[in-house]
This record gives sequence, structure tokens and C-alpha cells, in this order.
Amino acid sequence: MDLFEYQARDLFEAYSVPVLAGRIADTPEEAEAAAREIGGTVVVKAQVKTGGRGKAGGVKVAHSPQEAKEKAAQILGLDIKGHIVKRVMVAQGADIDQEFYFSVLLDRSNRTFLSLCSVEGGMEIEQLAVERPDALAKIEISAVAGIDKAKALEIAKSARFPAELQDQVADVFVKLYEVFQKEDATLVEVNPLVLTKDGKILALDGKVSLDDNAEFRHEREEMERDELDPLEAKAKEMDLNYVKLDGEVGIIGNGAGLVMSTLDVVAYAGERHGGVKPANFLDIGGGASAEVMAAGLDVILNDEQVKSVFVNVFGGITACDAVANGIVGALNTLGDRATKPLIVRLDGNNVDEGRKILSDFAHPLVSLAETMDGGADEAARLAS
Ligand SMILES: Nc1ncnc2c1ncn2[C@@H]1O[C@H](COP(=O)(O)OP(=O)(O)OP(=O)(O)O)[C@@H](O)[C@H]1O
Ligand SMILES: [Mg+2]
Repeated sequence: MDLFEYQARDLFEAYSVPVLAGRIADTPEEAEAAAREIGGTVVVKAQVKTGGRGKAGGVKVAHSPQEAKEKAAQILGLDIKGHIVKRVMVAQGADIDQEFYFSVLLDRSNRTFLSLCSVEGGMEIEQLAVERPDALAKIEISAVAGIDKAKALEIAKSARFPAELQDQVADVFVKLYEVFQKEDATLVEVNPLVLTKDGKILALDGKVSLDDNAEFRHEREEMERDELDPLEAKAKEMDLNYVKLDGEVGIIGNGAGLVMSTLDVVAYAGERHGGVKPANFLDIGGGASAEVMAAGLDVILNDEQVKSVFVNVFGGITACDAVANGIVGALNTLGDRATKPLIVRLDGNNVDEGRKILSDFAHPLVSLAETMDGGADEAARLAS
């Protein structure tokens, strides 16, 4: 699970990582009130789970509560790389002298943890890594030893922090590693970590990804409730493997690989039909029952962006006739709530029975496709 910046800020604060005051606001009026409470200059920041907010106009300075309200009104509703801003954080303004970069992450390919650090912060780290690789220190972190003060000083030296700052930033690195380890994170990134004009080190932006496999060790219900996409929340409640995307063709398939390739063929087909795109990833798994199919269809049909649905199932352990019965059951359960055309492509175990069940059902919204490409093309055509 990726956290919003304000959630990362709260987590940092709980581990005594130096941060500034920050309050969330869902309306311009709330932003105004937050700015009044914080006092002085504030920064209004879009809360979306994507990078490059500043460049997209999602980070704005405000010198008064009135201005904070105006800036929030500009930022709320912005589309940043397909993420609509529904919430801002009003953060206390810092008087920045220098910007640095620090992160610790799980380095899967090397089976270890890795810390990245640079005195050239602020800019996108991917860009820095390409353009000025020697300005980016890369230090392997042992999962057993972690980042103690000595390791933290080694990181600060490798990143070429000035001698007089090394001790101060090292203390912050140790605390950030504590967040990483105790919270079972796979990424803790601070960009920028800043030195203020009055000599303080502060984490001004935080990006944290938590390892979902460690969820049982933590109380994360509240963080999950803040997940702002209602469709994803609903899918999660039903235990579905669902990711909302920004397109018009709803997708249901079984098996992650098949669903991924279905997204690809629909995206290709969409290019022939006015640029329509897949609306979601949804894997109903190998043993999908009628209930799971119904739950999946329910989530997808509730997506206002969806114009058509492509069901692409390969019958294996769960044979095609069971899947077809699942679709029939789902449409019966949904009744009038099913309003969008469904293209169904079945193949594999008991395909003939499966197709016969759907033909006999003769639902006006359901049509059968012979092939995956054909089905994708028809679904994209209907969506356009
Ligand atoms: N509280 C603050 N006070 C003063 N300046 C700030 C504050 N927060 C951010 N800034 C300035 O705005 C810039 C961009 O902010 P931030 O890093 O939070 O967003 P971003 O980098 O654009 O977004 P992302 O990290 O999602 O790519 C920072 O580099 C910093 O110069
Ligand atoms: Mg940043």
C-alpha cells in the first residue's frame, strides 16, 4: 500500500523525524481554516499517489488564509497524471536553504535493502540517476544490521554532505530507517529533505510504501479507509484483485497473466476505436464462483466511466460451464443494475457447454466472442 504524503508525514512525526505542521483539507474553506491555525506562510499540496505534483501545479505557496483558500480551490479537482485531487495538505512553510534526497528501499534484484542519497535533492531522482549518476550515493543496507549511526554517517559522507551537517542528517537517517523497519515498508523516500535558513534539517515531503504481506502485524485500517477511490475500497471488501484504471472498457478475467494480456489487447483495439482504454484490472482467480463473478461485475458496472465490459475467461479447474453459470447468476442477481453490454470470450475446459449456457440464457446485453482479439475489438467498439 502506498501512503499519501500526509500519512507519511504523520508516520514520520510518530518516529520523531523532524517535520512541519500539516493539516488535511477537502474544501477551500477547510484549507483556509487550516492555514489560520498553522499561521504564517503555508504550502498547499495536492494529495495524490503520484509524483511530479509540483510541476503539475499541485504545490502552491500561500501567504494568508485567504490565499490558502484560493490556492486550494485551484488545486482541488486538478488532474495529475490521471489522479483527481480530492484532498490537499496545508503545510507550514519552510525557509529553505538547501534541498537533499534520501531514500531507503527494498532492492529485490539484489536481495537486500538499499539507501539512495544525494545533496542534489528536489529534482526527480530518476532524472538525477541518469544525468548525474556520481551525485547519487548508493549504499547497500544489511537487513540484519540496518542503519545505525555509523552507517548513517557513511551514507552522509558518500553523498558528500558538508562535514558540519553530517552528524545532524545522520540522526534523521537513523530515524527514517526505524520507520522503514518497524512499519515493514518497502520504500521510505524524502525528497526534499531540507536545510532551513536557521540550520534545521526537515523532511518536507514523504513517500512511503508499506508491504501488504506484513499487514497482519499492523493496525492499518484507518490508513486504508483514507483510500479515496470508493470502487477500490468496495472491491477490497469483497476480496477482489481489482485496480481502477482510467478507461472505458471494464475487464474481467481469470489469472493475473491473462488479465494483463487482456488489458494489452483492449488497449491496442482501443487505438482503432477513438482511443478507448481498459477501465480496470480485475482477476477473479482460478476458482471463480457465481458470487465472485457477481461481485466483480457489480464493482465494474458501478464505475461510471465504464461503457462496455469484456469478460475473458480461460476455463481450467473451474470449467467454462461453471463460469457461464456464474455470469448468468451474476446478471440475475444484478437485475436492472446491469446496464452495459458484456462481451464474453470463453475458452478451455468445457467451452462448448459454457457457450451453450450463455446462448440459451439469451440476455440482451451479452454477446459471445470467438477469440480474444475479436472480443477486445468488439468491446472497444461498443465503448467508443
Ligand atoms: N512546507 C514547505 N515549505 C516550503 N517549500 C516547500 C514545502 N513543501 C514543498 N516545498 C517546495 O516545493 C517543492 C515540491 O514539493 P514536494 O517535493 O512536496 O512535491 P513534488 O516533488 O512536486 O511532488 P512529488 O514528490 O510527488 O514528485 C519542494 O522541492 C520544495 O522546494
Ligand atoms: Mg517531492
